[in-house]
Amino acid sequence: MTKSVVAQSYGTSEALTVVDVEVPPPASGEVLVEVKAIGVNPIDYKLYSGAFGDDPEKLPVRVGGEAAGVVAAVGAGVTEIAVGDEVIVSPGTGLYAEKVVVPVSAITPKPAGLGWEQAAGLLLVGGTAVDALDTIGVGSGDTVLIHGASGGVGALAVQLAVARGATVVGTAGAANQDYVRNLGATPVVYGDGLEERVREVAPQGIDAALDTVGTDEAVDVSLALVKDKTRIVTIAAFGRAQEDGFASVGGGNPASAEARLKARAELVEQAGAGHLTVTIAKTFPLIDAAQAHSELAQPHPAGKFILIP
Ligand SMILES: NC(=O)c1ccc[n+]([C@@H]2O[C@H](COP(=O)([O-])OP(=O)(O)OC[C@H]3O[C@@H](n4cnc5c(N)ncnc54)[C@H](OP(=O)(O)O)[C@@H]3O)[C@@H](O)[C@H]2O)c1
Repeated sequence: MTKSVVAQSYGTSEALTVVDVEVPPPASGEVLVEVKAIGVNPIDYKLYSGAFGDDPEKLPVRVGGEAAGVVAAVGAGVTEIAVGDEVIVSPGTGLYAEKVVVPVSAITPKPAGLGWEQAAGLLLVGGTAVDALDTIGVGSGDTVLIHGASGGVGALAVQLAVARGATVVGTAGAANQDYVRNLGATPVVYGDGLEERVREVAPQGIDAALDTVGTDEAVDVSLALVKDKTRIVTIAAFGRAQEDGFASVGGGNPASAEARLKARAELVEQAGAGHLTVTIAKTFPLIDAAQAHSELAQPHPAGKFILIP
């Protein structure tokens, strides 16, 4: 048996409940993982919020897209991973649990130097950041504007863009300006007058923009500052992307899923070597997942929220 956190209804985080579920032995091509840490992401609460529908047939909603842990058993035909290996599980579903059975294709080996919490919080945001930066072709010599640079995705995007040789301007709240500066970007406070503040710190102009926030302000400022619309991407404002003719990534797009699978090994290697940092904002016991969701949906400290089974 394992404790697992699922949503028994649609709505707020009060829908989350801890249940005991049977853990089957891993079948052919599967792996049983004892979970040490679980990454918390906004998609986790969006899944049961009603944003993607509220079909009662789909209840309970299994929550959790990334985790890290130790392999406890392997099914037939699994040769690339052995019992006792430390691994990252991503992508996944229903990973808010003490033990999970997952396909071996969801497993990436965890470097010894990467902590459990960092490992659990790396790949969803890191894969999204790589996918978005590749979509707008961020490279050496570019000046790129990243909206939400203090966020989970934004913090990884800033570090990756700087590593590519780009100059980065990153928006964040007033409390997170130093955090964004330490990641390697020039910080700018979001809110009224954003366009002028960005122009001031980047007189050379903005070549590309990544929106991780989804507000009209982030989209409008990107459209005002970036000449070439193929160099604007959002991960959150899907409606505006369609209306205004710029790119979006994720949201079930198969090309994004493929790009993120490909990005895993390099992200893990870079994080294991200390070249990429995953800041941990706060950890919660697994059974307090509802509290974690409620705090993540409001203004919260910069960095990842992690659940510990
Ligand atoms: N399309 C995809 O594949 C994909 C993948 C991952 C995430 N997402 C989505 O992307 C969004 C961000 O995810 P995340 O994990 O990075 O979230 P997060 O860690 O909560 O970060 C949120 C960011 O938004 C900023 N922010 C908050 N209110 C703002 C406002 N009014 N104006 C401008 N910036 C504001 C925050 O800045 P301060 O904290 O400094 O105020 C912070 O930088 C979520 O909607 C998530 O569902 C999409």
